[in-house]
Amino acid sequence: MSPTAKAAPREEPVSRSHPPTVRAGLVGGGLMAKTHSLAYASLPLVYGDQHLPQVVRRRLADVEQPLAEAAAERYGWDEAATDWREITRAPDIDLVDIATPNDTHAEIAVDAARHGKHVFCEKPLAHQVEDARTMHRAVSEAGVTNQVDFAYRKWPAIQHARQLVARGEIGRVRQLRARYLHDYAADRAVPIGWRFTRSRAGAGSLGDLGSHLIDLARFLVGDVHRVMARTFTFVHERPLHRDAAAGATARLGRVDVDDAAHVWLDFGGGASGTLETNWMATGHKTDLSFEVTGDQGALRFSWLAPNELRFYSELDATDVQGFRSIIIGPQHPGAEAFWPVPGQGLGWGDAFLISVRDLLAAIAAGVPAQPDFLDGLRAVEVVDAALTSAATGGWVKIGGPAPQ
Ligand SMILES: NC(=O)c1ccc[n+]([C@@H]2O[C@H](COP(=O)([O-])OP(=O)(O)OC[C@H]3O[C@@H](n4cnc5c(N)ncnc54)[C@H](O)[C@@H]3O)[C@@H](O)[C@H]2O)c1
Repeated sequence: MSPTAKAAPREEPVSRSHPPTVRAGLVGGGLMAKTHSLAYASLPLVYGDQHLPQVVRRRLADVEQPLAEAAAERYGWDEAATDWREITRAPDIDLVDIATPNDTHAEIAVDAARHGKHVFCEKPLAHQVEDARTMHRAVSEAGVTNQVDFAYRKWPAIQHARQLVARGEIGRVRQLRARYLHDYAADRAVPIGWRFTRSRAGAGSLGDLGSHLIDLARFLVGDVHRVMARTFTFVHERPLHRDAAAGATARLGRVDVDDAAHVWLDFGGGASGTLETNWMATGHKTDLSFEVTGDQGALRFSWLAPNELRFYSELDATDVQGFRSIIIGPQHPGAEAFWPVPGQGLGWGDAFLISVRDLLAAIAAGVPAQPDFLDGLRAVEVVDAALTSAATGGWVKIGGPAPQ
């Protein structure tokens, strides 16, 4: 069927346990639509022997009709739509995948959960804490599978780092140092999109890049108890539209989010951490890196060498002590199904493939997915506390007991 044709919704029951197929609807036809579509399309090729449900790419919705139609056609979706309710309320959809700007996630996710759909949502879960709480409550009450797309924590080298920490290979964790630097906003002619507007994004580099680091900090070390932060806005006005010809005469809008942030983390129990984000860091391209230091060793990771984890152990003889390089291969978590030869390497798109593999496995088994909406809520709480700290000074405590 042509992506432009709108068929009457089929009256098929929503499948629940061990479904042979999962009928997906994707909301948002932008950058993430490509990564998610590629992941669904690749599932049977990479994970064909894992008895996962087959994903049917039923419908893609975007408010921009030409974009919806082009994305549906290009990324292999049966139909295009402009209203996300044609996905959240459709009887022929089991899984709602949300890849829209941050301020739209809550309304879509809550509606999907209330209509009994499983929900996969892009990060950050929401642009404000209250929305993230509502989303967590909605999926919990509906009992649907829910997952946030913190794809970096699915990355084999990072999964392996977590295993080594859990096995006590670096002893008691004392410190985490993490940074995510980029230069995609370095040019002051980059127009004001939703990412530069607090009411749409929630935060700037701290939400866009930092929420990944916060999730990694929680994954590798544990829950964050309190934070202290400083944020920086380097460019206060940007063009409203991309128009190279307009030059100095371009109409400008106000940027009200951070371009960069420094955040201090207190995990309690003596462990601490620092995060640095900057989307105007000239020369840095997807420079996500971290080091975890324990009393018996340390781990280092950099996305610039993503198929490598570096490990230092105090137990090594002193004359050979030093960071050793572990090259990722099929013996590492998440990488098993790809290539039989260590060192052949995985790439960014594969992170999303591992993410949706885990999501589908959780749906099929009827078990909770990871990271779930509670993890998403916790990350939003840390961003919010960091913004409060930056505005008021001093330490700010995070959240409270897990919401019911
Ligand atoms: N997991 C990751 O590594 C990662 C990477 C990039 C972006 N993201 C997240 O993915 C989400 C989308 O980011 P993006 O870069 O794809 O954005 P984008 O701006 O490229 O695309 C968003 C699309 O959503 C559409 N849209 C907006 N409101 C809508 C609505 N109400 N209904 C339907 N469509 C709507 C827009 O027209 C646009 O085409 C954001 O939350 C972002 O933070 C995650």
